Amino acid sequence: MGNLRTQVGIIGAGPAGLTLAHLLHLQGIESVVLESHSREYVENRVRAGVLEQGTVDLLREAGVGARMEREGLQHEGVELRFGGVGHRIDFRELVGKAITVYAQQEVVKDLIVARLGYRAPIFFEAEATRIDGLEERPRISYTHGGKEQTIECDFVAGCDGFHGISRPAIPAGVLQIWERQFPFCWLGILARVAPASEELIYTYHERGFSLLSMRSPEVSRLYLQCRVDEDIENWPDEKIWEELRTRMSTADGFVLKDGPIFQKGITPMRSFVAEPMQHGKLFLLGDAAHIVPPTGAKGLNLAVADVRVLTRGLVEWYKKGKNEGLEGYSARCLRRVWAAQRFSGWMTSTLHRFPGEDGFAHRIHLAELAYVTGSRAAAKVLAENYVGLPFEG
Ligand code: FAD
Ligand code: PHB
Repeated sequence: MGNLRTQVGIIGAGPAGLTLAHLLHLQGIESVVLESHSREYVENRVRAGVLEQGTVDLLREAGVGARMEREGLQHEGVELRFGGVGHRIDFRELVGKAITVYAQQEVVKDLIVARLGYRAPIFFEAEATRIDGLEERPRISYTHGGKEQTIECDFVAGCDGFHGISRPAIPAGVLQIWERQFPFCWLGILARVAPASEELIYTYHERGFSLLSMRSPEVSRLYLQCRVDEDIENWPDEKIWEELRTRMSTADGFVLKDGPIFQKGITPMRSFVAEPMQHGKLFLLGDAAHIVPPTGAKGLNLAVADVRVLTRGLVEWYKKGKNEGLEGYSARCLRRVWAAQRFSGWMTSTLHRFPGEDGFAHRIHLAELAYVTGSRAAAKVLAENYVGLPFEG
């Protein structure tokens, strides 16, 4: 049985775990990162694509933004499309900010390269199996290379996503769970074809929502609202393109070119919050503590916002012996989490068709969208939330 000792034991090498490990390193705080999957797997997992300006600034200031600056696509607006007409929400003009389209797995790659560059410990195919001593002296047990090992640490950062072991390690009765399941899913594809628009297009259509996004000037990322019990086998490529064309069609003849689809998947739409996001010496970050439906493009950005708050608390604790930042971690994070839940829930409800909706409901969707795109005040509310609300303090 091998034994390690570190200051912060980090479970999970997604955006939350890797960003935390990097920011702590810059502050001279040691950590060990455990990741159950292989490096190749985490570097190729297709997920988020939209980075808020605050996320971009944080990565840049932390010295891991060079490739993102070169290859990321800066967008100063998005289109909302409904009734066959597109309406641009101009972020720059409304709130003076922009977003960057840069794939989550590219952020993950950049952070792994940085960590390996300064030879800080990160173990792939190392699965955390239990956490003990949460109140006083935490110990993480994990298996690596077929062997049982442990890490003793001052604190545990649970960055292990929605299905990890950190949240369930908190004793029963401590957490309050708030949850909502939406009655539809997203069918997402990656296709080798130039994006049909320079900016993202969120479309509301009587047949359901669709989204045009991208990964590069050569690769499009597209999503379609589908049923919860949808079988991907029922969606041959041609049917996907046809449905996208129907939903995205405009009065002035928008053309969606197709291309080879090289990735396809179905994503459930869920809202979830665990409160509080800490217990004893364990802190939950990112998807381990909360999930938002992807319509607001907030999940990764919230994970990075949690990292920012925890880093500050840990730095205060190690450098000044102050506990306030750590004690207030959950309350501080949750204010942003609920603001993101509100916005993501609103985007989702406004842009999707709910099963059983009638013509009245359809007209309310259209009226809501007409208001958002017709009123400067309403457009500004959308823009301010989409680019990311300012950080507290
Ligand atoms: P994860 O990325 O889930 O990382 C957790 C890591 O922990 C994983 O690598 C996992 O293998 C590891 N792990 C789990 N259990 C263990 C264990 N026992 N031991 C060791 N390791 C373990 N967000 C946005 O901001 N913008 C978007 O545009 C956006 N679009 C999305 C589109 C889709 C289709 C999906 C599915 C999500 C999208 N999101 C988006 C959400 C975003 O991808 C997540 O919020 C983000 O991945 C959260 O990061 P995380 O580090 O908290 O968790
Ligand atoms: C993506 O590019 O994957 C993406 C963009 C915007 C969203 C969700 C996902 O709201």
